[in-house]
Amino acid sequence: MAPFSLIILISIVLSFLDDGSASQNPYLRHVHRPCKSMVVYFHDIRYNGNNDQNATSRIVGEPEGANKTSLVGVGLTHFGDLIAFDDPLTEDNNLRSPPAGRAQGFYLYDGRNQPASWHGFSMIFNSTKYKGTLTLAGLNVILAKTRDISVVGGTGDFFMHRGIATFSTDAVEDETYFRLRIQIKLYECWKLMNH
Ligand SMILES: *[C@@H]1O[C@H](CO)[C@@H](O)[C@H](O)[C@H]1NC(C)=O
Ligand SMILES: *[C@@H]1O[C@H](CO)[C@@H](O)[C@H](O)[C@H]1NC(C)=O
Ligand SMILES: *[C@@H]1O[C@H](CO)[C@@H](O)[C@H](O)[C@H]1NC(C)=O
Repeated sequence: MAPFSLIILISIVLSFLDDGSASQNPYLRHVHRPCKSMVVYFHDIRYNGNNDQNATSRIVGEPEGANKTSLVGVGLTHFGDLIAFDDPLTEDNNLRSPPAGRAQGFYLYDGRNQPASWHGFSMIFNSTKYKGTLTLAGLNVILAKTRDISVVGGTGDFFMHRGIATFSTDAVEDETYFRLRIQIKLYECWKLMNH
């Protein structure tokens, strides 16, 4: 068989084996297992007018008629409140454990009929385990048992990483404190080569 027809034969066979997706796009991969995973606890103490010494978040925007010391409205929706935060992250659920990192950014109560908040923030790690940042963005449907938020990128030890952060509410104490358990699973992990 001439080499040319052999090539044609091979490409015909390959086209039958093709599942129609992965081989056309070399960047499209089906991943089942994370390349990195970890759990962190996110502690938020909201300023209420008299806890300045330990508050880690503040209302910075509110709807007409509301104020910056109380979340607006009855119930849990608080529609229109915007909160800025610089919250500690710990490896276990103890607020007083040495922080593994910080979470800095904002959340906006954006559910009119059901409690929901939109989070845009970065986690900053500076421990012996990890140095670098992860940036998260997505909707937190507060009363759902678990909520998946996108991890849209990273720097340092998390160079160009992407994945999913699953939030679950771990504690809600009085009006000012809540704690989230965040399970982070990264499905794309790149390594920066310096040379
Ligand atoms: C923060 O400080 C206030 C006022 O001292 C206190 O009542 C509250 O329990 C503290 N919050 C937490 C989560 O430790
Ligand atoms: C803020 O709003 C809350 C709820 O309406 C109210 O109880 C509180 O007194 C207000 N605080 C200030 C400082 O106006
Ligand atoms: C990280 O920690 C080291 C050692 O504690 C400190 O020197 C450095 O300034 C920290 N970097 C950041 C970005 O916080």
